[in-house]
Amino acid sequence: MADKIVILTGAGISAESGLGTFRDEGGLWAQHRIEDVATPEGFARDPALVHRFYNARRVQAASALPNPAHAALARLQRDWPGEVVIVTQNVDGLHEKAGARAIHMHGELSCALCAACGHRWTAPLEMSPGAPCPACNRPTARPDIVWFGEMPYHMDEIEAHLLSCDLFASIGTSGQVYPAAGFVQEAAYAGARSIELNLAESEISRAFDDHRTGPASEVVPAWVSELLD
Ligand code: OAD
Repeated sequence: MADKIVILTGAGISAESGLGTFRDEGGLWAQHRIEDVATPEGFARDPALVHRFYNARRVQAASALPNPAHAALARLQRDWPGEVVIVTQNVDGLHEKAGARAIHMHGELSCALCAACGHRWTAPLEMSPGAPCPACNRPTARPDIVWFGEMPYHMDEIEAHLLSCDLFASIGTSGQVYPAAGFVQEAAYAGARSIELNLAESEISRAFDDHRTGPASEVVPAWVSELLD
């Protein structure tokens, strides 16, 4: 049976599509306080501020185009004889725009969530504070984004994939946010080989068996060609 590949992606894969990363110089977390815009407490304090932050990102993501790294992963998922599971921390939807399927562990900008009843629906480009939930009518609509202090989505499914994969690849993520930063160890525990593709060394580079250093738009297509051709 052909190898099963699990790929974790982070903000670095979308950097060359014009979307800012979080922790690089001048990144989103240098411009905004995490406590204000990416926690349930921040949303309770100032929902208008949080909506402004995600509205701006939603508008930007809506016009962003996938780059050659997203396209290469879509090609790998289509042409690899075994299973290719893409798990993304990104909320931008660029894997899908490139024709791939991805598990969204940190939610999606294109989706709204009712904080009261858990109903989900397609978010308008601009969400406003107090907008009613279409299912329960309470004014509790929020972006469907996993904030700090909340449990990432689909963890059981992701862990099952990690424990049954032969190769684990991490692309464009700084390895500073758990549980994603611990995936390489889980895959290694299950006997998988691992490779990190990143612009620079990350916090967790030493945990990987193999490395490709450079911009995702170059190193990812080259790696996919190595695997497929
Ligand atoms: P970070 O901003 O922490 O890290 C981005 C990584 O991408 C860094 O290691 C960069 O070196 C690398 N990088 C930058 N440009 C690149 C390029 N052109 N090609 C390849 N690599 C490049 O972003 P994440 O690791 O995705 O969570 O952050 C993880 C989570 O922290 C995010 O999902 C977000 C954030 O808080 C939530 O908002 C819940």
